[in-house]
Amino acid sequence: MSVRILGIESSCDETAAAVVADGREVLSNIVASQVDIHRKYGGVVPELASREHLRRIVPVVREALEQAGLALAEVDAIAVTCGPGLVGSLLVGVTYGKALAMSLGKPLVAVNHLEGHVHAVLLEAHVVGCKPELPAICLIVSGGHTVLYNVAAQQGNGSASAQGFRYRRIGQTRDDAAGEAYDKVAKLLALGYPGGPVIDALARYGNADAVRFGAAKMKGNPHDFSFSGIKTAVLYHVRDHPELQREIDARRQAFAQGARKAEQLRPQCSRQTLDLLASFQKGVVSDLVSRTLAAAREFNARSVLVSGGVAANSRLRQVFEEEARLRGLDVFFPSRQLSTDNAAMIAAAAYPKFLAGERAGAQLNAEATLPLG
Ligand code: KG4
Ligand code: ZN
Repeated sequence: MSVRILGIESSCDETAAAVVADGREVLSNIVASQVDIHRKYGGVVPELASREHLRRIVPVVREALEQAGLALAEVDAIAVTCGPGLVGSLLVGVTYGKALAMSLGKPLVAVNHLEGHVHAVLLEAHVVGCKPELPAICLIVSGGHTVLYNVAAQQGNGSASAQGFRYRRIGQTRDDAAGEAYDKVAKLLALGYPGGPVIDALARYGNADAVRFGAAKMKGNPHDFSFSGIKTAVLYHVRDHPELQREIDARRQAFAQGARKAEQLRPQCSRQTLDLLASFQKGVVSDLVSRTLAAAREFNARSVLVSGGVAANSRLRQVFEEEARLRGLDVFFPSRQLSTDNAAMIAAAAYPKFLAGERAGAQLNAEATLPLG
């Protein structure tokens, strides 16, 4: 008999619920995005996010159960993200998860959002029939995080989905997360929100060698990242090229008239803008790839895992694959759908904890800065 876990995720601006069997079979995966609400502010507004989670959580959970063909009473446990994230957003999921577990008399499992991102990679590895070898270096790169972990097996040699892991944080961003840099550059250039997917699509048409953005130079931990420098360099570039401003104004108008997709915005982008986007993306991607692979070398990793919203980026995937292959390393990504925030990864991460008897009680709270490892 399989173990079916209902996962709930509300750490940022996606209200999500999913049912996963035995930590690897996704029976349903529902994500209600709030992008349309936050778009006009160019970023997530915490108060609006928690209000929207409150509105969406019940229908989203209901839809996840319906799609899985299960009644609430048939799930074996409830898993919920308890941090890190926006505290008001997290509280909606935590409170609802606790109430469900208590009223149904089901076990409640608390999951760290970052550990969820690691399991998004494992879910996909299961789909394609492989199991990443450990120890692994895991890069979690999203709008809120850019962090490197050394991931090792916790116990025995069970199946990948039943396996517990030990995490050691070996590096992180000292300022902006990579996804945040994408979002801020998109805001500066009037390309909408979130910036990552649009820049990813438009950068394909530009020359990535047109503008030179040097890698961030930092003292101290060589596994740390920094993206505020490249973001500021783009700002200076725009300031030094006043002709770009006319286009920015034109794109604002296009936005006011409903243009949202990269293909709708492309006619409003000169070669100069496309080159700037491609060069920015090249700078961010080479920094992410080179620091991750340097860590893999230092810690003798057998594989590399890459997860989080920015893991959906096509150049990041391509460069990682090419560079890792040269070094004889396997690199694993989640499917694009599982790269961004979702609850399937939370239910999957809960499975080894459920098997190990880890239970959260009525005292479970949301923790905005909950660390992993
Ligand atoms: O994991 P996620 O959904 O939420 C956080 O935990 O932050 O990641 C969202 C972030 C946003 O900053 C978005 O711009 C970025 O991921 N993103 C991308 C792409 N798709 C989403 N960045 C670069 N390229 C993409 N294709
Ligand atoms: Zn995330």
